[in-house]
Amino acid sequence: MKNEKIEEVKNLLEIDKNNISNMNELNDLKVKYLGKKGLITELNSLIKDIPNEEKKNFGQSVNEIRTIFNDFYEEKKNLFEEELLNKKLEKETIDITLPGDKIKRGSKHPVNRMIEKIEDLFVSMGYDVMTGPELETDEFCFERLNLPKGHPARDMQDSFYITDEYLLRTQTSAVQARTLLANKDEPKPIREIVPGKTYRKEDDATHSHQFCQCEGLVIDKKENHVSLADLKGTLEIFVKEVIGDNLDLRFRPSYFPFTEPSYEVDVSCFKCGGKGCPLCKDTGWIEILGAGIVHPNVLRMNGYDPEKWGGFAFGPGLERLTMFRYGIPDMRYLYTNDIRFLEEFDRKDDCDAIK
Ligand code: DAH
Repeated sequence: MKNEKIEEVKNLLEIDKNNISNMNELNDLKVKYLGKKGLITELNSLIKDIPNEEKKNFGQSVNEIRTIFNDFYEEKKNLFEEELLNKKLEKETIDITLPGDKIKRGSKHPVNRMIEKIEDLFVSMGYDVMTGPELETDEFCFERLNLPKGHPARDMQDSFYITDEYLLRTQTSAVQARTLLANKDEPKPIREIVPGKTYRKEDDATHSHQFCQCEGLVIDKKENHVSLADLKGTLEIFVKEVIGDNLDLRFRPSYFPFTEPSYEVDVSCFKCGGKGCPLCKDTGWIEILGAGIVHPNVLRMNGYDPEKWGGFAFGPGLERLTMFRYGIPDMRYLYTNDIRFLEEFDRKDDCDAIK
């Protein structure tokens, strides 16, 4: 009797399966079989009246029908959904001629472009790129660079002191002392550049209170003779790479407490080729950096024996170099945050004003 009932439902289901043509009908069918009073649900409720020894078989048969139904339901449902999607896609057209949404692109600041250029060059020559704190101590910014408290050469750099001991660094040279001192237990050769921000209490048409420098330091054993010739050769490559080819360098004697001898280095004017023009103030030369042979006191104070070690240092300001490279006429453009100015550099990754 009970088994007949199962067969009945099974046969009915086979017939009903053939008459389903859309999602609504499929859902109605689900109610018919699995709803509260559904045919399969009803079969389930019969189980309690069945003698124990038949319960298992009966249960299995009901489950079989349920599986048949569920498989059918899933299969049909996927089919209907796919059909629906295909119909939608058929109707949908995409107009590829419509203008796209404009994406606002950012653009690298020219000083950062310059820094990256310099980093690439010096890394290719085996230098490390180092950093140091912008809030620096008097000790590292001055004292350890052979500028004791009260030294008259401190007047060359008007400083922002935060306390008696802390100031905003006036020069990236401060990192020279940090690197040397870090190696003092085991002195070893150094080749580093230190690009970064520096600060001085000055603000006029050609100076800003914040600017960028890139210190360079090369130290090696005395027997390796790191000399002025090496400094000159290095700076020649540097100038060629960041400003332009066929430029002459001129070393003018100068004074920096941390180098001896010290130089200011000029480059022949790339605008007029050295003949004289407004840019070079009719001199044919443009000053680009300070440099020299590292002073023995600096080495000694920071744990390197000057009898055994020696080398050179240099420190260009980066704004001027950036202006030369990209033909920027006024330094203030670099710091007034005018988006239109920055957009000038968009996509012109290697737009060389001079080359
Ligand atoms: N730090 C110096 C300045 O800001 C520039 C400089 C001169 C750096 C000579 C050096 C150097 O490393 O050897 O004026």
